[in-house]
Amino acid sequence: MPKFLRNIKQVTYNNMVEQTHRKDYTISMPSPDNIITENIITTKKATATDTGIYKHPTQQYWILNTEKSSYTLGISRDGLVLQTYWGPRLLTLEDIPEPPLRMERAAQDPDPSNMPEEYPGYGGLRYREIAAQVTCADGTRDLDLRFVEADIVVPTNLPELHITLQDASYPLQVTLKYQLDSTNDLIIRRATFSNQGEETINLERVYSATWHLPRQFATRRLTTLAGHWGGETRVQQRPIVAGTVQMESRKGITSGNAYPWFALDTQASEEQGEVYFGTLAWSGSWKINISTNIMGATIVNGGINEHDFAWTLEAGASFETPAFIAGFANEGMNGIRQRLHRYTRQHVLPHPQVEKPRPVLYNSWEATFFDVTEAGQSELAKHAARLGVELFVVDDGWFPARVNDHAGLGDWRVDPQKFPHGLKPLIDNVHALGMEFGIWVEPEMTNADSDLYRTHPDWIYHFPKRTRHEARNQLVLNLGRSDVQEYLIDALDKLIGENEVSYIKWDMNRPISEPGWPEYSGAHHDAREIWVRHVLGVYHIMDTLRERHPALSIESCASGGFRADLGILERTDQVWSSDNTHPDARLFIQEGISYILPGRTMGNWVTDTPADRQMNEIPLRYRFHVAMMGMLGIGGHLSHWSEADMDEAARWIAVYKQIRHIVQDGEQHWLISPSSNDGNLAAVECLNADHSEAVVLAFRRSNPFWEPLPRLRIYNLLAEAQYTVQELGHDNATSVAMSGAALMGRGIELPFSTSSYESCLLHIKRS
Ligand code: DGJ
Repeated sequence: MPKFLRNIKQVTYNNMVEQTHRKDYTISMPSPDNIITENIITTKKATATDTGIYKHPTQQYWILNTEKSSYTLGISRDGLVLQTYWGPRLLTLEDIPEPPLRMERAAQDPDPSNMPEEYPGYGGLRYREIAAQVTCADGTRDLDLRFVEADIVVPTNLPELHITLQDASYPLQVTLKYQLDSTNDLIIRRATFSNQGEETINLERVYSATWHLPRQFATRRLTTLAGHWGGETRVQQRPIVAGTVQMESRKGITSGNAYPWFALDTQASEEQGEVYFGTLAWSGSWKINISTNIMGATIVNGGINEHDFAWTLEAGASFETPAFIAGFANEGMNGIRQRLHRYTRQHVLPHPQVEKPRPVLYNSWEATFFDVTEAGQSELAKHAARLGVELFVVDDGWFPARVNDHAGLGDWRVDPQKFPHGLKPLIDNVHALGMEFGIWVEPEMTNADSDLYRTHPDWIYHFPKRTRHEARNQLVLNLGRSDVQEYLIDALDKLIGENEVSYIKWDMNRPISEPGWPEYSGAHHDAREIWVRHVLGVYHIMDTLRERHPALSIESCASGGFRADLGILERTDQVWSSDNTHPDARLFIQEGISYILPGRTMGNWVTDTPADRQMNEIPLRYRFHVAMMGMLGIGGHLSHWSEADMDEAARWIAVYKQIRHIVQDGEQHWLISPSSNDGNLAAVECLNADHSEAVVLAFRRSNPFWEPLPRLRIYNLLAEAQYTVQELGHDNATSVAMSGAALMGRGIELPFSTSSYESCLLHIKRS
């Protein structure tokens, strides 16, 4: 047969194998060497499967069933672990597809490049994106991972499938771990590398997972989050055609330029349609590649960024990657939020804090900047308490030499000039006013003008002959070093313990540069490990502080939302979303960040700034409504607020306390996405677990044509139930009674006039 004809037949064959996997399929075409004819599925006994992880009784096939999705795996004849399906829920073990035997189109597109391998290593005939790359002691740069065994493990928490792979010639094992969160339709994957030999192995790429999406007829759409300082987490969408979209951070932190999160759909709306999505639980440099070939096969790969990364895996040692959490939802883009929020509340956030409502906080930064004094802070505390604030946080500026951002970082002692009697009088005052006390720190940093740096100039990342570049006048401490970790644990432990601090705002205001560690390089180490060791150092310090102070809460801040990921949320309680508190910007930022952060972790403040425009053009009501969407805070200079504003603010805080259980821990649905209309309109609905109570926050920035809005349909209510709808915080508001069916079908008219900056807070409760 001429070669070109052979290839055409092969395409037909492969398409059928990949797309149908029918058990009655027989092949009658000639069988040249590169066409396999044995891929006929043997008859399997149909067995109903529930949610959970199951192995096929006779074949090396597994199915991971969540409530709404299935994910199946099989071992190829060559011992490769292949993903054979991911999508809507399958019903029986008979539905598990046979692993494809060969998918080679031609010598230029060889196997296993085309195979849906679960964890492709760099080696052999692989030319697509890979998940792992290593160099063995003898210089071999070729991974050949083959299946050894699989175990279904059921710990108390979530069930797991462990698949062990072994390199064909070297003593390297890789265990792929799949944790199943059935109720949230999520699979949480990690990989563990174990060196079982006597020589070191150098790890050069260790992604957490590879995900394969089934081919389909329509072009997919990719949603990502991107931004910059003051403009984080903005929703980006584009069609996915052949090629690779790469998102990454090389900064040593999660970053706010790109986020380790993606969603892929075809025609999903906010409430309907199938979506694949995922996010990395890692707070350092990361990468996600989304590659599509010309036939529409899409692969998502991701994990720790391999850029400037290396890890020396010594004899007997193991390395476990961070988790890559991914899911399939068929309830549109909001379906992602429900699943990731629930998962984060149920399995990620620290206890016991996650069981209690997050407090309303006051933060002094925008009021006083570095001009922090005992008298000034006490004055602010008095006003904050009058509003009903529950947690008073002193931001930057409380330690020696910190009159601006040029000095002091690293010297975590109270400035005797600003606080002649220490922090105690202020804290006592805050406590007497009925509030808890919190304080700002930036542990990973030092200024050249600090006692810490003068004593330990070797404690920062550096290359001996290179400039130590400053950013915001600061340098990054090498948190891979155990002496640096000990210094910070000791200093922070004292600060927290001696001062009854119940909350720290952990800031991080510049990326890592000159990532050298001169003392560490050598035969058994590679200084390129710092990208991982730094993050592990941050985690270790936070975990130790939490262990020693179980009531402590931590806020993750990195110039705003540059460290917002599920890794940091394992040891922090909330995230400062952005330094930009302007409500116009905030609606975009909060829409995006809510794809990662549940309401209870999304920190929002009502402020007076930014200074480019006075906010008094925007009603206080509107500013509160925007900030009430998550964890409410106040950041304005309260000594300058009018009596009327103070009274109004106190009313809004009281309203917030009434509804925060829904806003912080309920399901969050964006009914109107600001990204779809340039931010002029937005509406968010939060619902309690049984959908008997909901809160709707709706916004219209301007109405230049004096046009009435269409009615807003409120989804996810109980059709048969009767609800009372009331506008909260409005003196003359009346309530209306409507059925769930009417609220969902006809919707409600928003109580907006023709003015600019109209907003409302509707409380919908089953009567
Ligand atoms: C950056 C943070 O995002 C701000 O909220 C504030 O804490 C400053 N750092 C303090 O330096």
